Amino acid sequence: TGVYVLNGPNLNLLGTRRPEVYGSTTLSTLEELCREEATRLGLDLVFHQSNHEGRLIDWIHEAGARVKAGESIGAVFNPGAYTHTSIALHDAIEGTELPVVEVHISNVHRREAFRHHSYISPIARGTIVGLGVDGYRLAIDALHRMSLR
Ligand code: DQA
Repeated sequence: TGVYVLNGPNLNLLGTRRPEVYGSTTLSTLEELCREEATRLGLDLVFHQSNHEGRLIDWIHEAGARVKAGESIGAVFNPGAYTHTSIALHDAIEGTELPVVEVHISNVHRREAFRHHSYISPIARGTIVGLGVDGYRLAIDALHRMSLR
């Protein structure tokens, strides 16, 4: 069984982009942390990042199909700034019924007002914000627990 971790635009810059906000962990170190957590839980990790909305939509469709086939438990998703703009990502998750835990590294609620609204939260199983890259590990664990009940 697998678990997806999907990252949206600009998360390839993790570690160098505004470290005071997003920390100093790079995307490749984040992938390692996620891989460790998945392995601990006996899950195969599929880890992707893209700056393109359509690419993210395709991965959501793929993940949704794999969940329906009993081959995956869902996706941890940090949509980056598409969180605040993308009805298409909302519809992709809603349409595939993909179990998603939304993750934001920073606490979006203590930042600019334009980061306070999420198109993803209403169709996510849960949301983790402001706990840094640790949020990904917690989200993988949460999806695993959900898959057991
Ligand atoms: C983010 C928060 C978003 O507002 C921002 O556009 C990002 C990263 C986070 O992980 O804190 O790109 O999703």
